[in-house]
Amino acid sequence: MAKIIMGHHFSSIFFLTFLHLLHFSSPKLLEVSTPPPLPILPLPSFSQLKWQQREVIMFLHFGPNTFTDSEWGTGAESPAIFNPTALDATQWAATAAAAGISLMILTAKHHDGFCLWPSKYTTHSVSRSPWKNGQGDVVEEFVTAATAQRIDVGLYLSPWDRHDRRYSHDLPYNEYYLAQLQELLKKYGNVKEIWFDGAKGQNAPNMSYYFSDWFAMVKELQSSINIFSDAGPDVRWVGNEKGFAGTSCWSTINRTSLAIGAEGITQYLNKGDPKGRDWVPPECDVSIREGWFWHKTQSPKTLKHLLKIYYNSVGRNCVLLINVPPNSTGLIPQKDAQILKQFKNTIDRIFTTNLAQNCSIKASSQRGQEFGPQNVIDDDHLWTYWAPKEDVDDHWIEIRSQGNERLRFNVVRIQEAIGLGQRIGRHEIYLDGKRIVDERESRSIGYKRLYRIKSGVVCGYALKVRFIEFKGVPLISSLGLHLDPFWNPTRLSSVPTN
Ligand SMILES: *[C@@H]1O[C@H](CO)[C@@H](O)[C@H](O)[C@H]1NC(C)=O
Ligand SMILES: *[C@@H]1O[C@H](CO)[C@@H](O)[C@H](O)[C@H]1NC(C)=O
Ligand SMILES: *[C@@H]1O[C@H](CO)[C@@H](O)[C@H](O)[C@H]1NC(C)=O
Ligand SMILES: *[C@@H]1O[C@H](CO)[C@@H](O)[C@H](O)[C@H]1NC(C)=O
Repeated sequence: MAKIIMGHHFSSIFFLTFLHLLHFSSPKLLEVSTPPPLPILPLPSFSQLKWQQREVIMFLHFGPNTFTDSEWGTGAESPAIFNPTALDATQWAATAAAAGISLMILTAKHHDGFCLWPSKYTTHSVSRSPWKNGQGDVVEEFVTAATAQRIDVGLYLSPWDRHDRRYSHDLPYNEYYLAQLQELLKKYGNVKEIWFDGAKGQNAPNMSYYFSDWFAMVKELQSSINIFSDAGPDVRWVGNEKGFAGTSCWSTINRTSLAIGAEGITQYLNKGDPKGRDWVPPECDVSIREGWFWHKTQSPKTLKHLLKIYYNSVGRNCVLLINVPPNSTGLIPQKDAQILKQFKNTIDRIFTTNLAQNCSIKASSQRGQEFGPQNVIDDDHLWTYWAPKEDVDDHWIEIRSQGNERLRFNVVRIQEAIGLGQRIGRHEIYLDGKRIVDERESRSIGYKRLYRIKSGVVCGYALKVRFIEFKGVPLISSLGLHLDPFWNPTRLSSVPTN
């Protein structure tokens, strides 16, 4: 009997101890995370997200125009003029690498119809030129050199062709164009971007391009490529060749409202559409010089001008596509390479230090442990972010200086966690209660938004961003305060304004 009682007693103790352990250790052992909020559609694709993070990419316009001092060749140029004396694609790639650029796009064929690779489908190519006795392939050298420096490649194949007689005959020309697309996308390994230019002379003959066939073929041959055109489908034109996006700029747009080469859509392209159904972010193409091709008489833009372009493109949720044309020797001029390197060094100098790094960060509310405001000053600018509670209406985040030292800066950087959609419209930025960014400027954010403070350097203890309009709770992946030594508004007069 006693045995049984004891047995009972022991097992009770064991049971109670078990309950006790379960009760006191379960919060740690079984702790689960709060899930992220639902996305707001549309979302970027994997390749679009990779593209966005490149921030700056390089264009290279090279071909007969380089040798004839022109921008649009007639198509009647003799292949004999294509004769770079010391072409060195390794120097192109080294220039890009030194500027921190991860993708280079080459004009495989411009409007003059001359092919920089020995296409099977025409004789109007490098194979009829004196360069390397007709044995050369610029596209191949370009791809090899870029790949050797771990730089990705993109290609431009002009739809408008002023040389080929098939142009203006819908079926034969579309077959020709598709054949060349297949050559380029099968022979040269991974291609990360393809550029379809809507440009066409006013007197160009009328013809239809079979865009649906082209795009389907591109996606069939390259799984991680982004297709650029006026209207996407992956990357859209920003609507001008100055490198300037709209002061509000959405990655979203309605593709049904767009047509490639159409008139009257540049404003829509420039700003995007907060209600857009499609994720088609803009690329800002601009040349480092006046022309797209190299001309002896032209010079590269100044550092100040390039910085203005950077703030108006990358700083407005876009990717900057900067054209750096090789000269008739086949090299990127030293001057251009130097200014590009300086441009990169300056950007690094401005943005490597986040002056908010040691500040205390407070927010209106917090979704769960993982979504604290501290996430906005870590190194991840995409997948760790501050998320507020969903059942609250007022959303803000504040950076406060710790100690007596005031914050001193002239640039504010805000980044949205676009992996869950672009959400934020109107927002307000205050320093110690005083508005420091114009109401007309602060109407969208996106992947990266940079505000240069109009009055120059400002000082204060607390910077607060208040979110007024949003499609879903605002998700901020990064927030930065920076000092740009080149931003002195009173001295900036010779640079064109938007
Ligand atoms: C070009 O062709 C399209 C489609 O066939 C037609 O609608 C348009 O009017 C033509 N334009 C000119 C300038 O001939
Ligand atoms: C884009 O599409 C959305 C959803 O259909 C619509 O609400 C919006 O008005 C469209 N935008 C334009 C400019 O038509
Ligand atoms: C092209 O640029 C290279 C590098 O600066 C230079 O050595 C060469 O002389 C230039 N060629 C011409 C035609 O200007
Ligand atoms: C933040 O604190 C660290 C460690 O004290 C210091 O090295 C760094 O310079 C500080 N950063 C800023 C922006 O003040």
